[in-house]
Amino acid sequence: MAVRYDEQSKIFYLDTANTTYQMKVDQYRYLLHLYYGEKMDAPMDYMLTYFDRGFSGNPYDAGTDRTYSLDALPQEFPVLGTGDYRDTAFQVREANGCHGCDLRYHGYQIEEGKYGIPGLPAAYGGQGQTLRILLKDDRLGLEVMLLYGLLEECDVIARSVQVKNAGDSKVYLEKVSSVCLDFLYGRYDIMTFYGRHMMERNLQRKRICHGRQSIGSTRGSSSHQYNPFVILAQEGATESMGGCYGAAFVYSGNFSAEAEQDQFGQTRFIMGLNHELFSYPLRPGEVFYAPEALLSYSAEGLNLLSQQFHRCVREHIYRGRYKDQIRPVLVNSWETCYFNFNGDDIVALAKEAAALGVELVVMDDGWFGLRDDDDSSLGDWEVNEKKLGYTLEELSRRVHENGVQFGIWIEPEMISEQSLLYQKHPEWVLQISGKAPVKSRNQLVLDFSNPKVVQYIFEKISAVLRQGEINYVKWDMNRSLSDIYSSAATEQGRVVYDYVLGVYSLLEQLTAAFPDILWEGCAGGGGRFDMGMLYYTPQIWCSDNTDAADRVQIQYGTSFAYPLSAIGSHVSAVPNHQTGRVIDFSTRGIVAMTGAFGYELDFGKLSQQEREKVKEQVALYHQLAPLIQSGDYYRLSNPMKEEYGAWMVVDPKKEKALFCMVMLDIHGNQPVAYVRLLGLAPDKDYKDASSGKVYSGAALMASGLPVALGLGDYQSYQMVFEAVEA
Ligand code: GLA
Repeated sequence: MAVRYDEQSKIFYLDTANTTYQMKVDQYRYLLHLYYGEKMDAPMDYMLTYFDRGFSGNPYDAGTDRTYSLDALPQEFPVLGTGDYRDTAFQVREANGCHGCDLRYHGYQIEEGKYGIPGLPAAYGGQGQTLRILLKDDRLGLEVMLLYGLLEECDVIARSVQVKNAGDSKVYLEKVSSVCLDFLYGRYDIMTFYGRHMMERNLQRKRICHGRQSIGSTRGSSSHQYNPFVILAQEGATESMGGCYGAAFVYSGNFSAEAEQDQFGQTRFIMGLNHELFSYPLRPGEVFYAPEALLSYSAEGLNLLSQQFHRCVREHIYRGRYKDQIRPVLVNSWETCYFNFNGDDIVALAKEAAALGVELVVMDDGWFGLRDDDDSSLGDWEVNEKKLGYTLEELSRRVHENGVQFGIWIEPEMISEQSLLYQKHPEWVLQISGKAPVKSRNQLVLDFSNPKVVQYIFEKISAVLRQGEINYVKWDMNRSLSDIYSSAATEQGRVVYDYVLGVYSLLEQLTAAFPDILWEGCAGGGGRFDMGMLYYTPQIWCSDNTDAADRVQIQYGTSFAYPLSAIGSHVSAVPNHQTGRVIDFSTRGIVAMTGAFGYELDFGKLSQQEREKVKEQVALYHQLAPLIQSGDYYRLSNPMKEEYGAWMVVDPKKEKALFCMVMLDIHGNQPVAYVRLLGLAPDKDYKDASSGKVYSGAALMASGLPVALGLGDYQSYQMVFEAVEA
């Protein structure tokens, strides 16, 4: 049984295929965390210790027992006000400013199937069960429901929290986290993924030490700066060995993840909504829903941990028609011609695409309002027929006539001051009366916390999507939020959260109304690359940086949580528009191909040789797409530290494998790179499709491949292995 409660010991056991999570209701009805790790049937409450700790308070119920303190015990949902002075998961403020809260266990329920969350994305499906644990603060009349949803075969435990005000006074939720993990001892590294626009998700690995180490976002989106995914790795854990825990927040707005080593060397990790800018009023009878966090544990290193998340995303996060479907190879107009196009240019691109095997043409920014640059027209979702020279219906028909699908770009959450919408509804913008708003890309943000605004945008965008046969939409978001004030809200402390609910509501409505469209997320590239968006858009433009060398690093960081099918990656022109670097066409293809593949370059400007190369790449991609879509991904090097980036994908039956490597930094008389492969069957032989050479799977994993060296940076190697009869 996946969830079990032992009445006698008062221990909850949550089992996935290879892991166990344990909690205990103790004698004072506090819910203590006991264990999370490899499968474990034995009760782990013998690990709890009790000592008289100076300056660690004791709950009144403990009487004269000074050895019981929540300041030292591992907890499931620590709150501010119980004598636990570590970081807390939950803080509530009464109208009079008081912050005391005392949550005690009040019962549980086990349900078949995985829970869902109203208005928020959450993993779904699977055979697993849901455990609900009710904690109550009787004085405040506050009911806190902890949710645990098991996705057993992925070794994932989904966590969420619901808070109900069952009392008779309004309270303010000042902090609501979705997960807390307490470790009694041990040395852990915290692995986070920091970045900036055009250089997202760089890996940083640091020892957790005394003091709070935190990452997060107050930008209104999950952000380029820190991804809402964190790994706690046991000291020395590597890609293929050692224990590691991953936590992914299924949310696209402000978040925080905090780790702290306490005075006794214990480690606490907390992930949830960012408490800055958040003060959520909860009136009697109301319920607050916290976003979901996905937890996973691997006893065998980071590659397995990533594979568990990849599988979870593919099977329990992606929805809709493209969930398991191979995504079309696309060409996007952005780096091809920026704002400088008309309808004939798009049709010409479609013709070229058809000749090369490319399946979808995307008309990016610049097709609506009076938008010839990025200073105007956001909010005016009317097709600029004058610029295009076509109606959208005609244009999509012309594209389709070439046997190519058609897609467009939108940025629904934004508004330009130079727009008809702004003239009509200045009150629909997030801005603080009397304060000049912060501008970014010369645009402002619509108040998506106001359902009226969301409804209006839904109607406008729907009207556009009904005008022609649109097969794909790229949903962009090109600035961070500031000036958090909604003229429609009576309480401003809920606006940042309600904004995200507004975004999700629009995504839900549009994806439901247009189920055949392939949606791709984007926020200046990878500024909102998270599990929340993947619930609506099964791929996300990974970065505005298309330089293949930088992409090796960006896609390396991205791969820790997200599967290849989620990672929008395109071949673009050289010199690269973001770095000026010139990298060989093959290398650009090899890097872009391990993702949701496409191009952003003017096919009309390619040499005959390059055109042949595109045809070859597209044909190879079609052949490899099932493997890339659903194979197990392995990182073989750390391109932030090593001279090369190397990775591979192996199909679940271990019959086929793709190996890729890019040399990032070559030196005189360069030593040979010996790359050890992973994930193959040791008892199988594998034939390299291009050279015909046969290798033993055991040898490739034990000793590796000597990779031949060509001169020049960014040489790349791609090998497709097929298992052959030994
Ligand atoms: C963002 C996106 C780009 C492109 C532009 C259009 O920067 O990341 O891919 O769509 O907007 O303005």
